[in-house]
Order: sequence, then C-alpha cells, then structure tokens
Amino acid sequence: MRKYVIAGNWKMNMTPSQTKAFITELAPMVAGLDKCDIVLCVPYVDIATAVEAAKGTNIHVGAENVHFAESGAYTGEISAAMLKEIGTEYVVIGHSERRQYFGETDQTVNLRTKAALKAGLKVILCLGEVKEERLSGITNEVVRMQTKLDLADITADELKNVIIAYEPVWAIGTGLTATPDQADETCGVIRECIAELYGSEAAEEIIVQYGGSMNDGNAAELLAKANVDGGLIGGASLKTDKFTAIVKAANA
Ligand code: PGA
Repeated sequence: MRKYVIAGNWKMNMTPSQTKAFITELAPMVAGLDKCDIVLCVPYVDIATAVEAAKGTNIHVGAENVHFAESGAYTGEISAAMLKEIGTEYVVIGHSERRQYFGETDQTVNLRTKAALKAGLKVILCLGEVKEERLSGITNEVVRMQTKLDLADITADELKNVIIAYEPVWAIGTGLTATPDQADETCGVIRECIAELYGSEAAEEIIVQYGGSMNDGNAAELLAKANVDGGLIGGASLKTDKFTAIVKAANA
C-alpha cells in the first residue's frame, strides 16, 4: 500500500519570517491528517526556520535543489551534506524550471540524485514532457527516457528514497491541468518503466506524484486515480487554506 505524499514547492517565494508565520498557521490546520506525508520544499535560506517551526508537527521540510559535488569550488552552490546537517529531509531535483532556465540536463539530474541519496536525503525527482512533445504523441517515450537517464546507476535499495513527480511542463504555473486520465496514464507509464528497470515490487512501492496546477478544486479527482500517489504543488502551496484542502483530499 502506497501512502500519498503531498509536497509544496515554494519556488522563489517567502522570506524566513514569512516561512515561520506560514508553518505556524499551517501546523494546526493539518494536524492529524496522517494518511499522507506532508512536505514543504522551500528556498535554502528558509530551511533552518522551517525545520524549527515544523518541530513536533507532521510537516517535513525539503530543499528545491542540491549540487552534485560533495564540496569544492562551486561558488553559490549548496551540497547535500549541508542540507542534511540543518535537518532537511527531502530535495526536489530536476524541476522543469531548472531544466528550462538553468541548463539542467538528465545527466546533471542523475548526478544530483546520486549525491542526495548518498547523503541520506529523500529525492523528489521531477520529469515530464513539454507541450510540443504531448502534441506530437511522444509523451510516453519522453518520460520513459527521462526515467531511465535520471535514475541511471541508482540501485533498487536507493530507489526506496526516490519519489517521482510527473509534471507535464505545459501544466506548470499555467492553470492548465492534465486531465485525471492523462495524469493516471502517464504516471502509469513511469511505473511500468520502473517495473522494467527494478521489478514489479519496486514499481508497486514507488510514489509517483502528479504536479502542474494541482489545486484545492482538482486535487480530489487527480488523487482518485490509481497511479497518482500525491502531488507536487507550486502556486497552491503558498496559501495555507488551499494547501490544507489538498492535504484533506489526500486524507478523504
Ligand atoms: P504549479 O507548480 O502547481 O504552480 O503549477 C507545480 C510545480 O512546479 O511543481
């Protein structure tokens, strides 16, 4: 039995003081809603505040990226060990905004994933097709290729700490959502690919989230699908009431 994981991705939003206020407000709203794991992935500078504010609650804290080297001359970057030491549990890797604006490739996604897993972080690995790929009918090929490249050389044991977030790029921040059937079908393709790579047990166990304009209005029908095990939520994770409504949909 897979447990839903509802994760917020704040992107470049919220200062530390806003983070503290947000989590203080959210914690009682989601208390006891334990049928899903609740994660907030926040900007690096907010992590320590978030970890402190989330102590004793059912809210877990993640980062939005991580560098692949252990240490060294990488000005401006943050290592997995640094994240781990301040209490970070999860890290988003390969988000489409990083692929689109910051030159992220499947190869660097793979390197980051390996580094994060080695340091004991849980990875939320993002992948998904762009609009032209969906319109050309090659979505399945694209997500299968990304799944294989992004997970290259990752062992079955390490895979237990990987969540895959299927995020069609055309649905992110656009208000366009994949239909529940599209989300279910493509999450299913990713699961099939995991079965080919790691066997059917691993495929049954892995959490595959949907992301892309998931909100309080559409979460229930997306989460009702057999292959959708949660959500990675951008815009709607910045409002405690909307985020709580999604957590409640995963607890219904
Ligand atoms: P959105 O973002 O919910 O604002 O579309 C999702 C994401 O980028 O993870």
